[in-house]
Amino acid sequence: MSTTAIVGTQWGDEGKGRFCDVLAEDSDLVVRFQGGNNAGHTVVVGDEVFKFHLVPSGILRPETICLLADGTVIDPKVLCSEIEELRGRGIDTEGLKVSGSAHVIMPYHVLLDQLEERSKGDRAIGTTARGIGPCYADKASRVGIRVWDLVDRDRLARQLGQVLPRVNVLLEHLYDADAMTVDEVIDQVAPFMGTIEPLVVDGRALVMDAVASDAEVLFEGAQGTFIDLDHGTYPFVTSSHPISGAATIGTGLGPLDLDAVLGIAKSYTTRVGAGPFPAEAFDEDGDRLRESGAEFGTTTGRARRCGWFDSCMLRTAVRINSVSSLALTKLDVLDELETIRVVTAYELDGELIDYVPSDPEAFGRCVPVYEDFAGWQESLVEARELDDLPASAHNYVEAISTLVEAPISAIAVGPEREQTVWVEDPAEG
Ligand code: IMP
Repeated sequence: MSTTAIVGTQWGDEGKGRFCDVLAEDSDLVVRFQGGNNAGHTVVVGDEVFKFHLVPSGILRPETICLLADGTVIDPKVLCSEIEELRGRGIDTEGLKVSGSAHVIMPYHVLLDQLEERSKGDRAIGTTARGIGPCYADKASRVGIRVWDLVDRDRLARQLGQVLPRVNVLLEHLYDADAMTVDEVIDQVAPFMGTIEPLVVDGRALVMDAVASDAEVLFEGAQGTFIDLDHGTYPFVTSSHPISGAATIGTGLGPLDLDAVLGIAKSYTTRVGAGPFPAEAFDEDGDRLRESGAEFGTTTGRARRCGWFDSCMLRTAVRINSVSSLALTKLDVLDELETIRVVTAYELDGELIDYVPSDPEAFGRCVPVYEDFAGWQESLVEARELDDLPASAHNYVEAISTLVEAPISAIAVGPEREQTVWVEDPAEG
């Protein structure tokens, strides 16, 4: 039995959901450890497409317990509408649990996220406007509302009585918006309390017990390494830690409790929102990748910025996350290309480097150095084994593995569960 964390190694949207879904089949417990409904995981099962923002993708496996752990932030309305939609589509949500220690995205967090972004003008971060940042900011300021508070009306009223005066100063005096009263806020969240209350558990105890009893535990990361609050391109980052270390911080396990880390990397690079992106392709290459890869946001519908695979980013992400193996996604999107480019180094102020510099301004000055690979110009969607890949696809995958210094355990060649070439078991570490 083992613990495996799945993390995004780029800017999010790498295709983590489909690997979470596949690995969840053998998992007793699937845990979301950070972020909230800024995430968007798409899972395709036959003719059905499931888009998750909050609920772990493991929910499609009826035997699996799914936990929203301490490190996540939960919008009660979104959680309840996802549960309702899943139930409406015949999915058993009995296994869904929510940690009482997770923080709650309150209606004023969503409002503040929108007002803050608007006030920044052309310095806006391009957030998903879901209240993620203001909720985590309140958590760090120790004025957050947790799930324990949400499901106890008196406790919630007490907490809001302390928090709202401060929120109202911002709403009224900084943003010229209407103040909120305790009763108004409670009225907005009250319809969801009844659905959420039976789901509430001591998340840390649940995860610790699972690990102590040798259960198979999967940690489902959201977003990606380079929008990590510390290790991303600050301030163009999210407000949580989408890296593997957070699988322990966000759940209550210790750093040595992780057996394997599966890093998910798209076969090219995309980013939503603002911030430096040295490999961004502004020409028809970028347009082609966006169209073939259907690169439009699951959560916001925004067109994603596109560019070639960047091995400097991946090499850095492999180290930040202790990636034990990589899953390469959307290789089939490159099927028709004659030439495929890969960033192998950056030129930074006259020097060649092969990693992402921590200073985002220096990262913004990096000029990519490319190596060109011959495309395969045939369809990979039927490939199921390494030997099914044409020589040039094989060559591309091997070159990436060498450049980023990590083995590749799986390659996705289409959106369906079975459109995967398994090279080795990612849980082997
Ligand atoms: P926030 O997480 O909504 O605060 O947004 C901060 C930044 O992270 C913005 O650039 C978002 O576009 C980006 N972001 C947040 N969640 C995701 C995700 O799941 N995939 C890709 N980008 C994301």
